[in-house]
Amino acid sequence: MHSTNTWEQVDQYISKRLIPHDAVLEKVLVTNQQAGLPPHDVSPNQGKLLNILAQMQGARRVLEIGTLGGYSTIWLGRALPTDGKIVTLEAHPVHAKIARSNISLAQLDRMVELREGDALEQLTQMKEEGVAPFDLIFIDADKPNNPLYLEWALRFSRSGTVIIGDNVVREGEIIQAYSTDPRVQGVRKFYDLLAEESRITATAIQTVGSKGYDGFVIGIVKD
Ligand code: SAH
Ligand code: DHB
Ligand code: MG
Repeated sequence: MHSTNTWEQVDQYISKRLIPHDAVLEKVLVTNQQAGLPPHDVSPNQGKLLNILAQMQGARRVLEIGTLGGYSTIWLGRALPTDGKIVTLEAHPVHAKIARSNISLAQLDRMVELREGDALEQLTQMKEEGVAPFDLIFIDADKPNNPLYLEWALRFSRSGTVIIGDNVVREGEIIQAYSTDPRVQGVRKFYDLLAEESRITATAIQTVGSKGYDGFVIGIVKD
């Protein structure tokens, strides 16, 4: 009875009821698909969740690791005040190019700084530049680097910063201790670090829907 099909239909029901038609967001998903980007954009309901969490946080400064076509960037950007700022990191030049065009369509150019290049290199450079801490950090790039991204996220945090990580369930694969999938191992180390690290307290919510069975880690940085 509770099949994948049910999850998808319920996801659609929820988004039809609660997400008003939005020409920009709908166009961005079509553009990304037609450009052949990997179908790794968050779903509409997940995007709205990110947007609501950013509003609940009163976020003014957001860091996103992994832009793809900018779909999650736009959801996050719409939660910020007009003088808010998103720094988003993307290694793939084609993804970055499409993201820039999508962000422009959403009229968020002034709010979004897309830094093209390997995220670890960009983060190192940002530290050298003395970039200020962020209110919310969304980790959604290459999963094997998740433990390193968490360390960087903590360096760019203040007490009260919210850190969110995508794809932390992976159809349940994350319970496979001996998985040979480096993404699974990266996410498992991410959990280990969250458990050990006294500067953050975290949980994970499992999600089902148009993106299958997956989940988000949500944590808050303590003093
Ligand atoms: N947040 C996006 C989805 C991101 S998909 C959304 O929900 O709409 C993951 C992205 O991370 C891909 O575009 C991929 O090119 C990028 N990526 C992978 N490894 C990276 C790295 N080392 N540095 C920066 N970006 C990386
Ligand atoms: C993968 C990455 C993502 O960010 C996502 O949302 C889904 C899948 C992946 O690398 O497999
Ligand atoms: Mg993801």
